[in-house]
Amino acid sequence: MSIQVSSINKFYGTTQVLHDVNFSCDKGDTLVLLGPSGAGKSSLLRILNLLETASSGELHIANENFDFRSAVQEKDGLKLRRKVGMVFQQYNLWPHLTVLENLIEAPVKVAGMHKEAAKQEALTILSTLQLADKINAWPLQLSGGQQQRVAIARALMMKPDVLLFDEPTAALDPEITNQVVKIINELSETGITQVVVTHEVDFARKIASHVLYLEQGRIIEHGTKEAFVKPVTPEFAEYLTH
Ligand SMILES: Nc1ncnc2c1ncn2[C@@H]1O[C@H](COP(=O)(O)OP(=O)(O)O)[C@@H](O)[C@H]1O
Ligand SMILES: [Mg+2]
Repeated sequence: MSIQVSSINKFYGTTQVLHDVNFSCDKGDTLVLLGPSGAGKSSLLRILNLLETASSGELHIANENFDFRSAVQEKDGLKLRRKVGMVFQQYNLWPHLTVLENLIEAPVKVAGMHKEAAKQEALTILSTLQLADKINAWPLQLSGGQQQRVAIARALMMKPDVLLFDEPTAALDPEITNQVVKIINELSETGITQVVVTHEVDFARKIASHVLYLEQGRIIEHGTKEAFVKPVTPEFAEYLTH
């Protein structure tokens, strides 16, 4: 089991945004979190790598266990995020660093990787993502789609067990979205576990091995990709018509 979420509740102040969320996900799965804006998708995703802490519940991920009834330390988050990488909608590349520097920064400075080894690894990953010729470019010289691929490459540098994506295609046009589909599907062949937040049904269909559909902080439907064809709940069926 790669991820197990048990009885997660999340409050912001007095507002509850996640209600008793339970699910598990096997190694190598691509789990899509679908749902309307405000459903709690990003909050749930950010709990998976401790960018947020839950108010209660337990998380098992990448062979680590966290019980949110006791305080989770900042150092636990830093350690976990080496194994659970995240790709954001807004790419979050460092504008003052080249593509290569963006990729090797954390492995060298945080994980203590040798700089030459990190450069070699960066070149390998960039080649796989058809970005080898951009190695010395600045982020702002790249298109949105290229920046997103660099952000994925950067996350892969840490060889994460789990890769989280928050609306990775929200700022991309359809053709570029298909490149991201291809990357996610190729990564799934390598055995990495992926959790992808989106509100785009077409994108979700193309990548999901499993789907979790949320509304107002509650899981409405959890199934395999078959659920896109045969939804169990009327809520998910309705959402699929959008
Ligand atoms: N940092 C925060 N402080 C207070 N409320 C928040 C915060 N982040 C999200 N929320 C609220 O939590 C709910 C779920 O948000 P979010 O997880 O971002 O949903 P989604 O990603 O599905 O759109 C929303 O009502 C949102 O306004
Ligand atoms: Mg969100």
